[in-house]
Amino acid sequence: MTVLRTQVGIIGAGPAGLMLGHLLHRAGIDSVILEDRSEEHVIERVRAGVLEQGSVDLMHAVGVGSRLDEIGMRHDGIYIAFHGERHRIDFRKLTGGRSITIYGQNELVKDLIAARRATGRPLYFDVENVRLEDLQSSAPAIRFTHESGDHELRCEVVAGCDGSHGISRGSMPAEHVRTYERSYPFAWLGILADAAPSSDELVYSLHERGFALFSMRSTKVTRLYLQCAPDEDEANWPDDRIWAELQVRLRTSDGWHPLEGLITQKGVTPMRSFVCEPMRYHRLFLAGDAAHIVPPTGAKGLNLAMSDVTSLAGALAEFFKSGSEALLDTYSDRALRRAWRAQRFSWWMTSMLHRTGEDNPFDYRRQLAELEYLVSSRAALTSLAENYAGFPFDSLPA
Ligand code: FAD
Ligand code: PHB
Repeated sequence: MTVLRTQVGIIGAGPAGLMLGHLLHRAGIDSVILEDRSEEHVIERVRAGVLEQGSVDLMHAVGVGSRLDEIGMRHDGIYIAFHGERHRIDFRKLTGGRSITIYGQNELVKDLIAARRATGRPLYFDVENVRLEDLQSSAPAIRFTHESGDHELRCEVVAGCDGSHGISRGSMPAEHVRTYERSYPFAWLGILADAAPSSDELVYSLHERGFALFSMRSTKVTRLYLQCAPDEDEANWPDDRIWAELQVRLRTSDGWHPLEGLITQKGVTPMRSFVCEPMRYHRLFLAGDAAHIVPPTGAKGLNLAMSDVTSLAGALAEFFKSGSEALLDTYSDRALRRAWRAQRFSWWMTSMLHRTGEDNPFDYRRQLAELEYLVSSRAALTSLAENYAGFPFDSLPA
């Protein structure tokens, strides 16, 4: 067995793990990133697409914003559609200048992998059999297999950035953690299509037949979602059926509708709200989806991951500089406060915009009344806008 040493062992090369590694590098802190999937898989995975202002500012502040500037699409608002009408919500006006940027998660991951490579610090893909040892000590270890060799990575701190199916969360003793969970009786069928976006901004729609969302990835690629059954089989959705359903749910009385094109990717995303408390066990700290999952309706998952690692990097910078654990001691509470705020918002957007399938006419009328109130009240619009565009992140480590 080879023994390696580092200051921070990072499990997972998703947005959380890669950004944490980058922030630590900038603060002069050594780390090793371990990822159990291949580099191609991590880059090709189609996931989130909306960056809050705070995530955009972070990318720029740490020197990885040049492609984001080039191909990211800044949006100053969104549309909400119901009763066949589109209503624009102007984030810039309502929040005093905040906006969002459309930039695929896979582009962000590409930028961060390139930045990591440029530092020469270790990033291992295709590792196997990752497990944590001596978590209660001040020298926890990560054991793993790579290219048929067994390795032990001795760390001062371990960062569990390994997403909802990782091993970090489950390595904390059950009696130490409390989890909160809610599943929803629906999922999203998402597609990517080679079609120019026919709206300059996203359209969230509640239709009698269910939710639909119009989004995009570039000037040539449209991203669309349809509410479907939680156990939906993609095979039930040939391309023609998808387009017909999208047109019915999204078309508005002003004549707007999505443009169609070749469907290049199709997938079902389950909807879940999940929180693990606390996000720390001795020298193990969780960040991103490893600690909390939100339904995608509020576009918060990726942004929460970015904000967690900004706070964690600040706390680790203080720890390695002065030995003080003061910021590490408050990390979990600070990250959870933001995560619960995002949970509340994501749950609210989800319940307002999806049919429950219980076929209760009262609920649908109540949803329409809520949407009517929303678009007629500056107070309600401001609440949506400030939550969607996102709240400021912690400041970066010096
Ligand atoms: P992840 O991106 O999950 O990264 C964790 C990494 O750890 C992965 O690369 C994984 O392979 C690796 N890993 C797991 N186990 C191990 C192990 N044992 N050892 C080593 N490495 C391990 N959010 C939105 O805001 N909008 C969306 O539209 C949206 N769509 C989504 C669609 C899907 C199918 C999924 C799964 C998520 C979606 N999300 C969306 C959520 C968003 O993508 C996540 O919140 C975001 O990826 C969180 O980043 P992360 O780094 O915490 O976790
Ligand atoms: C996306 O573009 O993938 C997207 C946009 C908004 C959401 C969820 C996903 O709320």
